Amino acid sequence: MLAETTAPDVAALARDAFARWASGVAVVTTADAEGRYRGFTASSFSSVSLAPPLVLVCLDRGAECLEAFARSDGFAVHVLRRDQRDLAARFARRGGDKFAGTRASLSADGVPLLPLGLARLECRTERRVPAGDHVILIGEVRRAEAADGEPLLYYRRGYHHLPDGPGS
Ligand SMILES: Cc1cc2nc3c(=O)[nH]c(=O)nc-3n(C[C@H](O)[C@H](O)[C@H](O)COP(=O)(O)O)c2cc1C
Repeated sequence: MLAETTAPDVAALARDAFARWASGVAVVTTADAEGRYRGFTASSFSSVSLAPPLVLVCLDRGAECLEAFARSDGFAVHVLRRDQRDLAARFARRGGDKFAGTRASLSADGVPLLPLGLARLECRTERRVPAGDHVILIGEVRRAEAADGEPLLYYRRGYHHLPDGPGS
């Protein structure tokens, strides 16, 4: 039976519909005004444009790291590998030092970088667009790196990976 999107339940139904969108998983990082490293796990990452290369990620206005992303000049997007589920969980958990033991380094632009997983994009914040209870962070890609490997996937509120093919 098809669920109807009648007004009272539309938000809940939309959540369930959104959960049917399979995505990769990224950790997005920046530094706050005091130089503290901040970051969050994101499934809302998307490429936007190739010329110039633009990406977006949607950040919940209730996130503790909101202020840091609202003020910083740039951010980095780390596309996670299949074996980086722990890193995804760590950056989705509030409080504590998410970067402890991660071997993070600082980019030339002052953005914390985690070791390369599947891909890493260093971005200059091009625009912030308020959108409901989130803010869309649009970044212009300044540096990009990609490695071999398989992605960590997120679908219906759980982590997944591509099926093992012959020879993998
Ligand atoms: C797989 C996954 C994807 C997520 N995607 C997003 C996202 O795209 N945007 C967002 O604001 N929060 C997302 N979250 C939740 C944040 O990672 C989490 O609330 C984080 O702790 C927010 O940062 P804070 O600790 O600074 O509040 C996601 C969580 C998980 C587990």
